[in-house]
Amino acid sequence: MLFSQLFFVAATLLSAASAALIAHGPIAACANEQVVDTAYIGANKDVKLTLSHCANAPLVNAHGEAVSHLAKRQSANVCGNACNTYCWAPAAGGPTTSDCTVIADALLYESQNTGVFFNATAFGTATNKITMTYNTCETFFLNQDTSSITYCRTEWSKLVNWLASDCSAANNAHGGLCVATDQRWYVQVQHN
Ligand SMILES: *[C@@H]1O[C@H](CO)[C@@H](O)[C@H](O)[C@H]1NC(C)=O
Repeated sequence: MLFSQLFFVAATLLSAASAALIAHGPIAACANEQVVDTAYIGANKDVKLTLSHCANAPLVNAHGEAVSHLAKRQSANVCGNACNTYCWAPAAGGPTTSDCTVIADALLYESQNTGVFFNATAFGTATNKITMTYNTCETFFLNQDTSSITYCRTEWSKLVNWLASDCSAANNAHGGLCVATDQRWYVQVQHN
């Protein structure tokens, strides 16, 4: 196991300890989404991949709150970096966990067949939002840094499973997000 993977495990445990319910429902929706490309991924090519940009990107800070400023830039590869989890109350209206599992599995399949790493372009450019959808479940990776960053499908897959279970109806939530502690990116899971 790589050090970065060990670090992520520790970070995930920290996230578990700091998971918090936030009451104000999903943060700002992606307005006037400009879709650049779509494809179908996974072993069964049934998970939809969308590369896009939002007119008013839902930037959030490390507390899961909508913000209007950008984070500072550091190294480009942020795979395995720690993030803080926030879930939206109440229980009703979230994705079906098993639909999110299909996306998590497709991400692992792509990590083995396409590559572990992917790039998300800088905030403000055409493809800073990468979205995966399957049936009731949607997840996206949003780069809110001023330069492109590299993340990994393996960690995204783990976060999808983590958010789909920790922010599920059983925990009085209907989805949530994990925001990088340095605020440069976040992964969200919500109803499609
Ligand atoms: C990401 O971008 C960097 C810098 O342009 C490049 O070297 C790298 O090959 C890219 N990685 C992937 C997975 O596309």
